[in-house]
Amino acid sequence: MKRRVAILISGRGSNMAALIDAAAADADFPADIVAVMSNTASAGGLAIAEQAGIPTVVVESKPFGKDRAGFEAKLQAALDDARVELICLGGFMRLFTAEFVQRWHGKILNIHPSLLPSFPGLDPHGQALRAGVKISGATVHFVIPETDAGPIVMQGAVAVRDDDDAESLAARVLSVEHKIYPEALRLVASDAARLDGDYCRLVTLQSCDDSLIVPPPR
Ligand code: GAR
Repeated sequence: MKRRVAILISGRGSNMAALIDAAAADADFPADIVAVMSNTASAGGLAIAEQAGIPTVVVESKPFGKDRAGFEAKLQAALDDARVELICLGGFMRLFTAEFVQRWHGKILNIHPSLLPSFPGLDPHGQALRAGVKISGATVHFVIPETDAGPIVMQGAVAVRDDDDAESLAARVLSVEHKIYPEALRLVASDAARLDGDYCRLVTLQSCDDSLIVPPPR
């Protein structure tokens, strides 16, 4: 049985689109994207989801102000209506209460454009450039109450170039995001990756000998 997945967005929804495309492209993909939910009607991703024939729901968060639990009660009702089993956050710019995260323990994935635990929060690319790292990337992780933290499902890396600015680095990391998020969802939805306390483990060990060395050795 395919897992019923909702994607939560607040903006352009390019990761959402990558997940929708991956699910549509493979009849054996272990997840069905049953809804796209946004906390703002202005999210550009809503139109992309509608074009793809995915039901969309807007639960405006603004009227709730600091009442996060009130917003979440309405969101939870929408998730219940759609019989959602797994949530993927794709640029969802709203923090959850610990209660909501606990309720969905092991069932919410997030993507963040850095190699966590480095550079959580805002402006991850600026943080990476200021730190002078030679390699950055993106991380798909299970959501825990702390922001941009939690058991890591998958990461992808890119070389940081001397002439990078936050925009150019973000563009290269974004293309990695679009590759790893569908694969991470595939692993979790098929139970090939499972939570083990603070860690996410693959059920079958896979070898991966690739190394990325930056700058490249002569
Ligand atoms: C993505 O780069 C995602 O990693 C980031 O927001 C962007 C959303 O873009 N998420 C975070 O920074 C979470 N802390 P998208 O709407 O095109 O997917």
